[in-house]
Amino acid sequence: MVQRTGDGAGMAVEDWSDGVMEQDKAKTSPPEPSRRSFFKKVWMVLGFVALAEFIGLVVAFLKPRKPRIKEGDFGGIITAGAVDDFAPNSVTAFRQGKFYLSRLEDGEFLALSRKCTHLGCTVTWDSEKKRFECPCHASAFDIKGDVINPPAPRALDLYAVSIENGIVKVDTGRKAQRKS
Ligand code: FES
Repeated sequence: MVQRTGDGAGMAVEDWSDGVMEQDKAKTSPPEPSRRSFFKKVWMVLGFVALAEFIGLVVAFLKPRKPRIKEGDFGGIITAGAVDDFAPNSVTAFRQGKFYLSRLEDGEFLALSRKCTHLGCTVTWDSEKKRFECPCHASAFDIKGDVINPPAPRALDLYAVSIENGIVKVDTGRKAQRKS
């Protein structure tokens, strides 16, 4: 249905077909999303993601960390055994701990790294010759780890040893280099 309105000179024509104006149809149909609103939503999503990551980082920072190395593993504290289990002037190998435990004549303990100080080969203990020998370039070390045959430039490195209630413990996370 077409309806004419106005005073005749500027008469407007409106289509009332089916009882609904074309103008009203346009108003009731859902608006198409504009580019601006699309980018607004994208920025909101990115903002939430950034916020979630930031919260995750803060929580991870504040959370107490579990020690990665367990007691008994290399890098942690290794219980070697009772003091009396080690005879004076003896050397005991601890493969898992990657060290030798030397008990000297006077009863002192030294935990020696098994790594040659020349190029890092693994030294072996010769119980007859009473010395550590490197299979790579023939360096040799005495029971204290001191060099008795070069090319090793310095003594074997030492791990920290402690005795608690008659038990010898070696901290393989604390290694000291010696100068000669
Ligand atoms: S690595 Fe031991 S002597 Fe060379």
